[in-house]
Amino acid sequence: MFEEAQYFAPVTAQEDGSVVVELASSHPGFADPVYRARRNAIAGLAVGYRPGAPVPAAEYTEREHEVWALVARELGVKHAEYATAEYLHATRRLGLPQERIPQLEEVSELLEPLTGFRYVPAAGLVPLREFYGVLADGLFHSTQYIRHHSVPFYTPEPDVLHEVIGHANALASPRYARLYRAAGEAVRRVEGEEALEFVSKVFWFTLEFGVMREAGELKAYGAGILSSYGEIEEFRGMDIRELDLSAMGTTQYDITKYQDVLFRAESLQHLEDVVGGFWDTCDDDSIAKLVASGL
Ligand SMILES: [Fe+2]
Repeated sequence: MFEEAQYFAPVTAQEDGSVVVELASSHPGFADPVYRARRNAIAGLAVGYRPGAPVPAAEYTEREHEVWALVARELGVKHAEYATAEYLHATRRLGLPQERIPQLEEVSELLEPLTGFRYVPAAGLVPLREFYGVLADGLFHSTQYIRHHSVPFYTPEPDVLHEVIGHANALASPRYARLYRAAGEAVRRVEGEEALEFVSKVFWFTLEFGVMREAGELKAYGAGILSSYGEIEEFRGMDIRELDLSAMGTTQYDITKYQDVLFRAESLQHLEDVVGGFWDTCDDDSIAKLVASGL
């Protein structure tokens, strides 16, 4: 999930118990009453969800399954060229369905035996502390809706394709899953808002938009790149910088555009040493020093 409030359509519960997703007028599904109703119904599942219960199934339409099948197939082709070997290996281990949208409960059943992670539903934005904190418990907050069928290769917000193809495939790798947990433990440890934001930005520039050198080529492991049909073709041409905690934790980014500044790990081991090591040990004081050195 992305972490900025304006990226998510606001979700409101009405007095009569119904749930309304307020899509912006620029959203591809804004003028489609059938899509709007689907979004409201799916958000209602997450609003009604209680922790510990099975995740309610979203009854997807054929058209929605077709969007998944099309995008999953095309991304699969791109992954063979642009994704890290660790991500590709994890993808094969997880074995997500290609022709239909998997239910979140099904994703959990595939994922939990591999790395202990389970998916829980999110109607929209989840507060940073909650979203990251429960990663330490092996829980991942995920939206369930899918993008509008008129533009299958574009979404203005994180949908189930991003959450599952981007994140669940990575979470099927014990090494990436350990990094997600470490980010959660870091968020549980830090107290101030500045430190929380720093940890979340390091997450953004690594597990969402990280790239890595592998066998002399630049590969992507970040879920935001690996779930974006357009971005995956473009990332090698971006401003690629060395992995640097101070820079990652203080660089501003615009979530509404392709990410034009990316940080490159020299290997997975390098990522684990620098970023995993940071999340394993950081506290408010150590982050304050990194902020000061990044300014
Ligand atoms: Fe995400």
